[in-house]
Amino acid sequence: MIGLNDNGAPEGIEFKADLTLERLKPRLEEVWRNNEIDEAQRSEFERRLHAHWRPLFEILFRLYGSRYDFFFHIERILQTAAQAWSDRPVELRDLDRHRINEPDWFQSEKIVGGALYVDLFSDNLVKAREHVDYFQKLGLSYLHLMPLFAVRPGNNDGGYAISNYRSVDPRLGTIDDLRMLAADLRRAGISLVLDFVFNHTADDHGWARKAQAGDREYQEFYYLFPDRTVPEQYEATLREIFPTVRRGNFTWHDGMQQWVWTTFNSFQWDLNYGNPAVFRAMLEEMFFLANVGVDVLRLDAVAFIWKQMGTDCENLPEAHLLIQAFNHLARISTPSLLFKSEAIVHPDEVVKYISPQECQLSYNPTLMALLWESLATRQVGLIMQTLRHRHRLPEHTAWVNYLRCHDDIGWTFDDDDAAMIGINAYDHRQFLNQFYTGQFPGSFARGIPFQENIKTGDMRISGTMASLAGLEQAIEEDDEEKKELAIRRMILLHGVTLSIGGIPLLYLGEEWGMLNDYEFVTDPAKAGDSRWIHRPKMQWDYLEELNDHIESGNGSIRNHIFKSTQQLIALRKSLPALAGQNMELINTFNSHVLGYLRIFEGHRLIVLANFSEEVQCVEGNKLRTAGIGRFFEDVIEKKTFETSAPVELEPYQILWLKRV
Ligand code: GLC
Ligand code: GLC
Repeated sequence: MIGLNDNGAPEGIEFKADLTLERLKPRLEEVWRNNEIDEAQRSEFERRLHAHWRPLFEILFRLYGSRYDFFFHIERILQTAAQAWSDRPVELRDLDRHRINEPDWFQSEKIVGGALYVDLFSDNLVKAREHVDYFQKLGLSYLHLMPLFAVRPGNNDGGYAISNYRSVDPRLGTIDDLRMLAADLRRAGISLVLDFVFNHTADDHGWARKAQAGDREYQEFYYLFPDRTVPEQYEATLREIFPTVRRGNFTWHDGMQQWVWTTFNSFQWDLNYGNPAVFRAMLEEMFFLANVGVDVLRLDAVAFIWKQMGTDCENLPEAHLLIQAFNHLARISTPSLLFKSEAIVHPDEVVKYISPQECQLSYNPTLMALLWESLATRQVGLIMQTLRHRHRLPEHTAWVNYLRCHDDIGWTFDDDDAAMIGINAYDHRQFLNQFYTGQFPGSFARGIPFQENIKTGDMRISGTMASLAGLEQAIEEDDEEKKELAIRRMILLHGVTLSIGGIPLLYLGEEWGMLNDYEFVTDPAKAGDSRWIHRPKMQWDYLEELNDHIESGNGSIRNHIFKSTQQLIALRKSLPALAGQNMELINTFNSHVLGYLRIFEGHRLIVLANFSEEVQCVEGNKLRTAGIGRFFEDVIEKKTFETSAPVELEPYQILWLKRV
């Protein structure tokens, strides 16, 4: 056995890693021979293999070194990696070389993201290809297509219950359609993002079906228990993620006469990464996706991939090791591939997934939640308190800043951050839930509850950006002033995510101010999941209306929202100060106004954002020091300010101030 050295790493591990690789050389040779890989390509791979092998081996050893079949799996993993490089299309290898030399490409101000469901946007992949110009018109350069793989019949959790990672849902098209879309996007300068749903498979995935048929090898791919004894022991320390689906985290399977671990829906079976065969099998799926032409994989539900009795089975150290292992392998075989972490957890935990060795990108759920918090309270205290020590990230990584996505809003701020400024976190979350479900007196929001937990009083919020920002209420009441305020709130929020540092990510529909879609209840496969309220179908007639409007000069709310969003995106892309992650808060001495400074390679931009529906002022001299200048132009409204006078912000106005 190998002991542990002072750093917690197994002793002599480097020697053992090298020796193992030496022993495995003939296996590599086989792959090169069988695939007729030339000398240049081999050595390209082997250079990267040597750079990553030792840390990779160490991680795998830590996870699986005590397994009887460790060496067998190491061998298979290496073969899988070599095969992936052999299968990599020429254009992608070119991209790999390019991105190795430009590892910070995603830090550019030119990167602006969008996310959509193919069926809701354009019915299918072939039609999506016809709309690449729409993405360009809006200014997108990063596109996340929600899961589009073969799924189980009936409820499939919006595509997150996958029955085959290598085939596209036939209603959307084929894997070749996807390849062609990926190539079109690449030519248009748009990066493709797809999900890697690796925490669970659908209950009808091939592996799950074999397990159900009694195949022991595949039963070990999942967590199965003959009775409640062990599940009860786990349950004692677990959270419930979908408490309205079923109580607890386990589902009884009649056929197998076993309890199955199901963190999410009962038909989503958690994979057992304690078994190296699972790691290797999912690695093959990962490489398959990468070779379709995916630039970024969104690692779904990262927090849950490792379980250990007596813990909450979230964010465990081994979960990080697993992702790092996948990352090393991506660096070796598909080096342009990046990972985006979907850890919608406590902010202390979110950040632990973010590093060049793990996930280069991460959703920023804390910023998302706190922007909505500021909108409800009209105060920027909590967001300032939080950003002050939580926005900074390691080099070569970036936040993905969003307002809405296909999921609910959970109030994932830190209780101590709240306590520091005198806010009781529990009460505050109750208030926010009341506010965003429209129950708080004077609320403008029209959200609905998601996964209300009667036992804990916990609840999350569903609703589209526009409905949460007050547009639905304003339209219903036909109140012009309220409509105006709602639109301003939306522009304000976009103005922050587009400027605060990181990749802004729009959820398509936002650009039109799409309202809640209450029709989802008529579909039995969707009725039980309120998140469908904010997954509306794209209305292509809006675009026609917009084009007509350009000719006739006739405006509508939708056109106004679309054009403002489009302009803000174009503006962001013209401002080098908005590249990178560097952001310094500015104390505006006004509790309604968020202020920050962006600096990149000598370019500076000051942002001031008024979260209240009253006019607010900020002392000009605060800007003079931050912006090093006396005269500033708001590049959004093209208005000049002089810092000898107070800077006045209209209700919900956001200023992007550049020195003139
Ligand atoms: C992720 C997805 C969510 C899904 C869950 C289970 O959190 O964003 O939509 O329900 O994982 O896959
Ligand atoms: C929880 C999970 C997150 C998931 C969400 C779906 O917040 O942490 O991964 O997306 O539930 O509602």
